[in-house]
Amino acid sequence: MENTITKLVKVGELDFPPRKVWLKTYGCQMNYHDSERIVSHLSNLNFTLTTDQTEADLMIFNTCAVRDLANQKFYSALGETKKIIKDHQIDPETGFKKDVIIAAGGCIAQTEGKDLVKKYKQLDFAFGTDVIDNIGEMVYRAYAGDKKFAVTSWDKSENYSIETKITPGTPMAFVNIIKGCDKFCSYCIVPFTRGREKSRRLAEVVTDVKRLVEYSGIQEVMLLGQNVNSFGKDNNESLAMLIHELDQISGLQRLRYTTSHPYDVTDELVEAHRTAKKLANHLHLPVQSGSDTVLQRMLREYTIEHYLTLLAKMRKANPEIIITTDIIAGFPNETEEEHQATLDLLDKAQFDFIYGYTYSPRKGTKATRINDVLTDDIRLRRLKDIQDKQSVIQAALRGQMIGKTYRILVEDKKISKGVMKWGGRTSCHRLVHFEGDIPDKDYQWHWIEAEITSVTALSTQGKFIRDLGKTPT
Ligand code: SAH
Ligand code: SF4
Ligand code: F3S
Repeated sequence: MENTITKLVKVGELDFPPRKVWLKTYGCQMNYHDSERIVSHLSNLNFTLTTDQTEADLMIFNTCAVRDLANQKFYSALGETKKIIKDHQIDPETGFKKDVIIAAGGCIAQTEGKDLVKKYKQLDFAFGTDVIDNIGEMVYRAYAGDKKFAVTSWDKSENYSIETKITPGTPMAFVNIIKGCDKFCSYCIVPFTRGREKSRRLAEVVTDVKRLVEYSGIQEVMLLGQNVNSFGKDNNESLAMLIHELDQISGLQRLRYTTSHPYDVTDELVEAHRTAKKLANHLHLPVQSGSDTVLQRMLREYTIEHYLTLLAKMRKANPEIIITTDIIAGFPNETEEEHQATLDLLDKAQFDFIYGYTYSPRKGTKATRINDVLTDDIRLRRLKDIQDKQSVIQAALRGQMIGKTYRILVEDKKISKGVMKWGGRTSCHRLVHFEGDIPDKDYQWHWIEAEITSVTALSTQGKFIRDLGKTPT
């Protein structure tokens, strides 16, 4: 990094001295991966990442539109930039710091890009979800003096073809395998912000992952898509086929995928959970509601019976598997009985964790046409019912871990009650904290074994057993 500090890069007509980019990401893992791609592309224009907004030359917001709260967080953070700029370097003419460029990308920018640049004086440009890999050209354009533009076009090429970008130094990589979503669940904005489904070719993904493992030290891969179960549909390929191919790559330790739609889980995929040795003991399978009638109104295409049968099959294929899910509380006109059905499902499904949300109306989605009688108070109370019940189930489930030994990939450390603890994830995606055996030893990205000593619904503590190093065999 040292030598980039003085280096000047010339691109086309422009000089690019060393500059700092500050990036704020909202939303799902796909957005986080898009941010990784943005940073990687910008390094070609001499940008390095900063976490200090006050020293940024370029500020980028990678936005999420999935619920109103995500939108509000972005609007208020964008509002704050005025003050941050004013407090640091003032241009007397505009009242803003002269050379700071501000951009908004991602899901809000995809549908509202043009309006955003009109409405927010400080916003220089906006870019959608399908032009992430053109960020270099857009930043160039802004430095060439072209401001107040929005690029929200869709990639028209027949195939989805990319090379994965990673954050250097980590052994974990997000690998996009399919983009977009064709499901149009009645509450969801994603098909509008991410466009139609398009898969990468299986062979391309395999070559990509081989390269990452061989040359970039990647050991754990998370396959990403809004509905990864649709992977390869148009090419006579499938997620199960891909998993089997990736399972053969020596040096790859763990494989995960997210997110799955219960309607599209095939028997071959269930079978992959039995046979693919590297596939993690974790499945995130969003159910959204425990009521068949609500699922119908959500246009989810499955019943609770189908969902529970799937869980049983998965658990038979891999008895170690743990299941997490997403639930929406208070879908329009959800009755008390329908809400009760969701509470009943928690007992039957035995989820290890729930991402619970109150329903948030999204412009342009079918659910907004329902004349909804529920209030925010009802939704919040129902979400609390769900979380309270889940927390009891979760503590009991996690209690079963006590005394067992797990392999953990250590991610980072933190001080808790005056004691320095390291934290990492098991194959089943539970976060475990432990004290290292040697003070001051750096365990980051080591594989270790720990025995679980205590748990609560939200935290798991372990006792260090042994260090397997950075590349266990
Ligand atoms: N593609 C994934 C997840 C997409 S969004 C899937 O189909 O499972 C992540 C989660 O946000 C969804 O699973 C859903 O639980 C929640 N969500 C989506 N739209 C929402 C809305 N309008 N209000 C509240 N929660 C929503
Ligand atoms: Fe949204 Fe449904 Fe697509 Fe998931 S499957 S992204 S919830 S429309
Ligand atoms: Fe949000 Fe877009 Fe992801 S709306 S959840 S960032 S696909």
